[in-house]
Amino acid sequence: MNGTILIVDDDDDTAVLLRDSLRKRGFDVDAVNSAQQCLERLRTDPADVVVTDVQMSGMSGIDLCQELRQRYPDLLPIVLTGQGGLDTAIAAIRAGAYDFITKPVKVDALAIAVGRALEHLSLRREVKRLRSAADRDVPIDGIAGNSPAIRETIEMIRRVADSDATVLVTGESGTGKELVARALHNLSPRRDQPFVAVNCAAMPAPLLESELFGHVRGAFTDAKRSRAGLFVQAGAGTIFLDEIGEMPIEMQVKLLRVLQERKVRPVGGDEEVPFEARVVTATNRDLETEVEEKRFREDLFYRINVVAIPVPPLRSRAGDILLLAQFFLKRIAGRTNKPVQGISGPAARLLMDYDWPGNVRELENCMERAVALCRLDEVTVDDLPAKVQEHQSSKIVITTESPGELITLDEMERRYVRQVLNAVGGNKTHAARILGIDRRSLYRRLEEPRHDAKPEAAAAGAPSATGRPPTTPPPIGGASNGSNGHATPPSGTGTSVVHPGEIEHT
Ligand SMILES: Nc1ncnc2c1ncn2[C@@H]1O[C@H](COP(=O)(O)OP(=O)(O)OP(=O)(O)O)[C@@H](O)[C@H]1O
Ligand SMILES: [Mg+2]
Repeated sequence: MNGTILIVDDDDDTAVLLRDSLRKRGFDVDAVNSAQQCLERLRTDPADVVVTDVQMSGMSGIDLCQELRQRYPDLLPIVLTGQGGLDTAIAAIRAGAYDFITKPVKVDALAIAVGRALEHLSLRREVKRLRSAADRDVPIDGIAGNSPAIRETIEMIRRVADSDATVLVTGESGTGKELVARALHNLSPRRDQPFVAVNCAAMPAPLLESELFGHVRGAFTDAKRSRAGLFVQAGAGTIFLDEIGEMPIEMQVKLLRVLQERKVRPVGGDEEVPFEARVVTATNRDLETEVEEKRFREDLFYRINVVAIPVPPLRSRAGDILLLAQFFLKRIAGRTNKPVQGISGPAARLLMDYDWPGNVRELENCMERAVALCRLDEVTVDDLPAKVQEHQSSKIVITTESPGELITLDEMERRYVRQVLNAVGGNKTHAARILGIDRRSLYRRLEEPRHDAKPEAAAAGAPSATGRPPTTPPPIGGASNGSNGHATPPSGTGTSVVHPGEIEHT
């Protein structure tokens, strides 16, 4: 772990023993024999953690903690307290100590305390860095993020904003698809024209048809006047067809014709009207699967999928979680006039550990709630929802400890593939990408074995064709969120962990 430690003890033997023991554990450590020497040393050689005895000739460890708090607020002191030293420990914590260890010092306990202090420091620095990064890193149109995945999305937006190509924005719910569609419009030469968003899931087919393509007077009972549809109302701007995957099948064929001809026929009308708007669509469904299962027309799929912009789920851009949290914090605090400035280290850790199945929208809601509940100038663990506080990163645990449950490699693979598929809400394209296989292979791996199939030699304890002893695959225990989806082989210790959308006019 990165960081410099300075030991302060007027007993030279103890100082050297602690220094050497921590060095052996890979820490960068030095030692001095008094509080004065410590303060002198820090003027030229900064340290991250000071481990200090309390009873020392000259300045005591407690006074040193007070001095350090004033001079070096980013440094974390750990105090070594004597027998029955609870009062001393309390005095040390009040004086600014981060932690205390009782004597005699167990080096393992000290190493853990030092490691924890360094992790706390690195988290605190990260939050600080992100607080300033959040001010700068809103590269386009309110899309905050710095991770490679979102940078790729932003790069795609920049590349296609100028063109007239039809764009399909895909991604799980709450990932920011509408934000991407708006960014495409705002970065395009069409930015001064209307941006018209339509939720295709919100209306039955006849109403949607009349909204999109317009109607002539008398087309239906309530049609007292003719009305231009949204394709025409969008002018030379952008029409955003959100939730295209939910579009009723009878509308899909009509939309296909419209996109091919670049003309709409108003309901009840005989004449086609040309339109100029650029078409951007979005869905959180896996359209390839929808096509295979005959719920989405293949020809329409190819027509709208000229350029695809996938928006990554939040869990695959872990580097953005704190940045987005800070971005929302600042925005919400500003709007609500609350003096909340930051996020505490432990709260930041919980935010990073959580899976965010509701993606950026869930994080935004979480920060809205946190700001409302926050009583300090910092969001703390107590301000976070219970599901974030109580979340334990779920992992697939492979253990070789229960021989009664041993399964074949094939079965293990099938179960893992199903878990990844569940974790991505059944999106086969997405699951295949995570697993690093194509969709056809994915289907194959999901198939149950045929009972008349010959068992594989290595599977059920039979000697293998190579003559080597059969490999006995470990069973899968525990649940997976499949968020990473990368399996690592079982370790030699017997246990291993696999980290696996109303019509709106603007
Ligand atoms: N990168 C980002 N930076 C800042 N805010 C974001 C970002 N991504 C999403 N948001 C915010 O998260 C919320 C959800 O985004 P949006 O509505 O675009 O998601 P969506 O993918 O269209 O979701 P759904 O599929 O549920 O319609 C919005 O308030 C949006 O402003
Ligand atoms: Mg949306």
